[in-house]
Amino acid sequence: DSGVPLIKAGALTTCTHLPYAPFQSKDDSGKVVGFDVALIDLVAAKLNVTQEIVDTPFEGIKSGADLNSGKCDVAAAGMTITDERKQVLDFSEPYFDATQALAVVTGKKVATLDELVGKRLGVQGGTTGEEYINAQVKEKGLKIEVVSYRDLAALQQALVTNQVEAAVNDLPVWNEYIKANPGKVEVATGFDTGEQYGFAVKKGNAKLLAEVNAAIAAARTDGTYDKLYAEWIGE
Ligand code: ARG
Repeated sequence: DSGVPLIKAGALTTCTHLPYAPFQSKDDSGKVVGFDVALIDLVAAKLNVTQEIVDTPFEGIKSGADLNSGKCDVAAAGMTITDERKQVLDFSEPYFDATQALAVVTGKKVATLDELVGKRLGVQGGTTGEEYINAQVKEKGLKIEVVSYRDLAALQQALVTNQVEAAVNDLPVWNEYIKANPGKVEVATGFDTGEQYGFAVKKGNAKLLAEVNAAIAAARTDGTYDKLYAEWIGE
């Protein structure tokens, strides 16, 4: 025994960055709910504690700062597993596959990034979508003005109020937005980045990581994963 506690006393604290529906967002009563929340609830139940959610900027989550300083026990934020992040965090087994998508206000004709030359393209700060777009713009020498927003809500607001011509984020998040706000925006094109989401713990917290992996594996085996997938993600 390393003497490192599995979790802080009394609760399983989860760092996330709101809003990020369908993975984590506030319901009408202000309670944080979503696919990630439901999966981490399974871990908390196994540990006989409740989950306590801490809403904090994505930068501190993906940089490892929040977990490594003990702000939270686990991070659950629709977070893509990347080699860079693996240097500073320990990730669970993948629990969700995602790609990036370009969304526009319904009816706007944009099919490729090249068509955004001379225009503004919105991204969410600190995310893989931002990294992907910056790399593409650089590689192809595209003169697109990439504008970074602090969270998903700000990005989506910028899109629907025409402050940007198009916006990039994870596909499941656009699908959810379209379900909740029919007719407003549409997915113009996708970028098959082959991303996988993982939950993360502080580097070296092997015991908690094992609990998280066991909960995911059990949920996949007993049908809970499929049930939660249908509930939160849909088809
Ligand atoms: N999957 C993307 C990434 O890892 C976006 C995650 C943003 N998550 C959030 N809860 N704001 O960079």
